[in-house]
Amino acid sequence: MSTKLIIQADVTEGKINKNIYGHFAEHLGRGIYEGIWVGEDSSIPNTKGIRNDVLEALQKLNIPVLRWPGGCFADEYHWKDGVGPREERKRMVNTHWGGVVENNHFGTHEFFTLCELLGAEPYICGNVGSGTVQEMSEWVEYMTFDGESPMTAWRQENGREEPWKLTYFGVGNENWGCGGNMRPEYYADLYRRYQTYVRNYGDNKLYKIAGGANVDDYKWTETLMQEAAPMMDGLSLHYYTIPGDFWLGKGSATDFSEDEWHLTLKRALHIEELIEKHGTIMDKYDPEKRVGLIIDEWGTWFDVEPGTNPGFLYQQNTIRDALVAGASLNIFNNHSERVQMANIAQTVNVLQAMILTEGQEMIKTPTYHVFDLYQVHQDAERLSSHLESDEIKHGELAYPTVSTSVSRGKDGKIHISFCNLDHTNEVTVNTELRGATLGTVSGKILASDKRDARNTFDSPNDVEVVSFTNFAEQDGGLQVTLPAMSVTVLTIEEGA
Ligand code: AHR
Repeated sequence: MSTKLIIQADVTEGKINKNIYGHFAEHLGRGIYEGIWVGEDSSIPNTKGIRNDVLEALQKLNIPVLRWPGGCFADEYHWKDGVGPREERKRMVNTHWGGVVENNHFGTHEFFTLCELLGAEPYICGNVGSGTVQEMSEWVEYMTFDGESPMTAWRQENGREEPWKLTYFGVGNENWGCGGNMRPEYYADLYRRYQTYVRNYGDNKLYKIAGGANVDDYKWTETLMQEAAPMMDGLSLHYYTIPGDFWLGKGSATDFSEDEWHLTLKRALHIEELIEKHGTIMDKYDPEKRVGLIIDEWGTWFDVEPGTNPGFLYQQNTIRDALVAGASLNIFNNHSERVQMANIAQTVNVLQAMILTEGQEMIKTPTYHVFDLYQVHQDAERLSSHLESDEIKHGELAYPTVSTSVSRGKDGKIHISFCNLDHTNEVTVNTELRGATLGTVSGKILASDKRDARNTFDSPNDVEVVSFTNFAEQDGGLQVTLPAMSVTVLTIEEGA
């Protein structure tokens, strides 16, 4: 098989917002508790209650932005229950996720500490579904107001003198579903109302994100844009890759057929059509593309691991997930004129996680390694490129074999990310480089010869990044041979 990639290195197409490499951590299952927060008295080594092993692994990813506290949890979260002395905090039942008791030990202060330790910007999602305007307004005041006020005084009493810097604020989550089962017209009015009281204090300028559509609910996007576009900076979109049926059985994360392999990748690539169609509606009301499309929940969603709590959404992660991540990120990069942020669901122990933990132990998933490899695209200039790929055909399904995106990093080097989605064949990509001279080239790859390859607590490094050298100069460009099921990043330093 052969595929052609043409790179026009002297034509840039705008910046790839680093926030495309954002994450999402919800109070769900073992995502926050155990996965991130163990508490200061834990025998697991921690910094201010946050486990050190997870912290160190996540720090290496340079997570630009972290969304919290949900998800569905956000619309039943009452932030005031999560501040003040921990032992006095109110306990609640997390009705969405397993009906477990939430002790509110991880609240606003702990979240900002986590973001500070990660060097990530906080993205807070407020409660529209079951919260009041006053509650949301006071949360923003508590976090960002510097002057004399009841909320400032309370924050200071709770140990934080200065306000925090907060940019990203979501006004509700999935308000068409778990966030209140609203009609778009009703939510659009509520959005207008709630966001009025989400104030900018001092020089803290908020980027307000309206709750957006589920998958292909274009009516939702049309209504929100028509009724509220001037009052928002971003509009969200949620899309999960599910090879089966959401209610009847999503499919196993590890034990899947060839049909499910193809269906997963085909469905993952569907996000491009969603971006284009929601983007076209947004263009009608916002031709300058001021309002960002914020894909603040995406990733694979499989059946939970056998024997685990169905409400905890704990799933393993294979090379198939790595390909979903790599191809999705390429799509986001290639639509960075509209996609200003994306937040994979979720960071630790939930859905398509970066990290899995079991007691003291921690492993990095194949998806973690993709985020590591792709860091080079964060805030890089997207370069003009054109891909002509062969297709994989399986029954009635057809989809491109190769996915790519190309950028020039802050280091001045050209970075190309390639995914070979074919699980049996290698593919040669004839890469033509125009507008630049080839100099030194280096590569890194994540690959496997087993469709269900994964890292486990017994064998944590089965899928890991190694150096890649299977390329050769060809007419000033490169002939690159990608093994089956692989994610590769090539770095080109220009020659004289
Ligand atoms: O990420 C899991 C859940 O999926 C989120 O809480 C919700 O917003 C979505 O339906």
